[in-house]
Amino acid sequence: MPFTDLHSHILPGFDDGASDDTEFLDMARIAVRGGTARMAATPHYDLENPNLELPAVLASVAEHSELLRGEGIALELIPGVEVRINAGLYDLAGGGGDLKGPTLRCNGRYLLCDLPLIDMPTATADILFRVQLCGIVPILAHPERNRFLSSRLEAVRALVERGVEVQINSGSLEGLYGKTAQRSALALLDEGLARIVASDAHKPNGRSPDLSEAARIIGRQYGEKAVRFLLEVNPELALAGEDLVDVPLEPQKRSGRSRLFARGRQR
Ligand SMILES: [Fe+2]
Repeated sequence: MPFTDLHSHILPGFDDGASDDTEFLDMARIAVRGGTARMAATPHYDLENPNLELPAVLASVAEHSELLRGEGIALELIPGVEVRINAGLYDLAGGGGDLKGPTLRCNGRYLLCDLPLIDMPTATADILFRVQLCGIVPILAHPERNRFLSSRLEAVRALVERGVEVQINSGSLEGLYGKTAQRSALALLDEGLARIVASDAHKPNGRSPDLSEAARIIGRQYGEKAVRFLLEVNPELALAGEDLVDVPLEPQKRSGRSRLFARGRQR
């Protein structure tokens, strides 16, 4: 089964991802070469200072899907956004606005959310809880890259215990964002707190859409079943609007990073 990548900035024209159609096509080819068959296009979305219109994302997904077909690239694009956790999200979730539109595949079930890289706003849990009250499961994107959360797994665990899902970046496993993010990503896997790995691809190189190296790292560290669940099974369940499942880790292969933190996932 090929990989399903739930987090990417492959659509040009919305954010700091692909800058034009040439870069879009390069990224698509790299993704497919790395084993990806489906990719959610998730441009940054700031509800406090709205930077895009959701219909424009849908139209761009349709237009770029055509482009892929024309080029013979076997990559299915899925619409989505990466919503910043801020007062704008709090207001939308509490104000009866359209919270289904920004969800992955617009299916009203999973919302990809991110924090600023430096801090964690004190209202984070409240904002996410308000989202959950709308029947939507927040997927917290790359907490291992957040300077506050990367060394405080207990804070991530508290969110997970309240029903938040966690996605880590393939680049974090590769060491692309430094040792702290790498250690934190492995600890999140060790602890069973992260159930999805995605690329968060921005460019053909560097933060690239190639998931094959992360798959190799996960396979070596946790076994091939873990690769399947993190990169295929759970992303597909999310797109189907189903509950995610725990990732089977080969115990002898756990990285040992979790010894740095308090133990145990409880749901
Ligand atoms: Fe992102």
